[in-house]
Amino acid sequence: MLVLGIETSCDETGVAIYDSEHGLLAHKLYSQVKMHAEFGGVVPELASRDHCRKILPLLDEVLEAARIKKNDLDGIAYTAGPGLMGALMVGGATATALSLALNIPVLSVHHMEAHLLAPMLEENPPSFPFIALLVSGGHTQLVSVEEIGGYQLLGESLDDAAGEAFDKTAKMLDLDYPGGPILAKLAENGNRNRFAFPRPMTDRPGLDFSFSGLKTYTRNLIDKHKQTNGLPDDETIADICAGFQEAVVDTLVIKCSRAAEASGSRTLVIAGGVSANSRLRHKLEVVLEKEGVEVFYARHEFCTDNGAMIAYAGCQRLLAGQSNNLQIEAIPRWPLDQLSSLNQVNTL
Ligand code: KG4
Ligand code: ZN
Repeated sequence: MLVLGIETSCDETGVAIYDSEHGLLAHKLYSQVKMHAEFGGVVPELASRDHCRKILPLLDEVLEAARIKKNDLDGIAYTAGPGLMGALMVGGATATALSLALNIPVLSVHHMEAHLLAPMLEENPPSFPFIALLVSGGHTQLVSVEEIGGYQLLGESLDDAAGEAFDKTAKMLDLDYPGGPILAKLAENGNRNRFAFPRPMTDRPGLDFSFSGLKTYTRNLIDKHKQTNGLPDDETIADICAGFQEAVVDTLVIKCSRAAEASGSRTLVIAGGVSANSRLRHKLEVVLEKEGVEVFYARHEFCTDNGAMIAYAGCQRLLAGQSNNLQIEAIPRWPLDQLSSLNQVNTL
């Protein structure tokens, strides 16, 4: 089955074609990062308009790269949520119109389910069941995954998502947008022990997270530094980045280890933009390997938003006979554990 995947939930237009027999045939991504950088964050209306401009040219490019015609497609999958309403509508409208024109099924995909399944695109994919740490700009969740659609939420952030905490901290340090990967890069040369960042909510039982206190800690640290030493120099900024990153990473590692122990699972999947973080990958592998748990993640470009994960996730559900009607679905808030399993047909 040849499936077209369309991702437009935020500031990345992603289009891909996945073949159930031969794997991923082609994928293209257009990032709006430069456009939003001027404003220091995503401007939803500008995002929707840019998706409109880019989606059809990207579709042509991806068809050409996969050496197929639109008529060869067997199904279409698009991100229906969670995400920005206007941005989601662009992908949904495009996918639904194409499905009507080509007379093939169309399907809504949950953005976080697609992130969670992205490591399945790799050569050595994880096997079900497993536990998953979903860490993106909007979500931080620990999930028990029985099968596709069989998700049980074990814990989540009570305030900021991990990626959001990275981005907000980067902003406080006047780093360029988008802050997360830039902060991570600077952290590589910093001293992670110079400042004693807290490890929030690790001293009590449970699998929930809270990252807003780390933000306040960083704000106070910068203010204090400004009062006594003036503006922080490059070395101090790198040390703050390293200390902050280590605190987030340690917190995530402690909760993953706790979740693995409680569930007895020997497989951990990490997914979402923050799973691209090298320090997080490294520390999880070192700590969890000692506990007999294998860690899986996608290649860098499939950790952050992309069309390939949508095509893959959509293909699994289309193969199982699921599809939408022609109503365009855009669901800005959509809990992951509300999804149906593969053997429930047309329940989306
Ligand atoms: O999954 P994603 O592309 O979009 C959402 O679904 O939110 O995740 C984006 C988030 C941003 O907050 C970004 O700063 C963060 O992932 N991110 C990183 C890294 N790369 C992306 N955070 C830490 N280290 C990185 N290397
Ligand atoms: Zn995402």
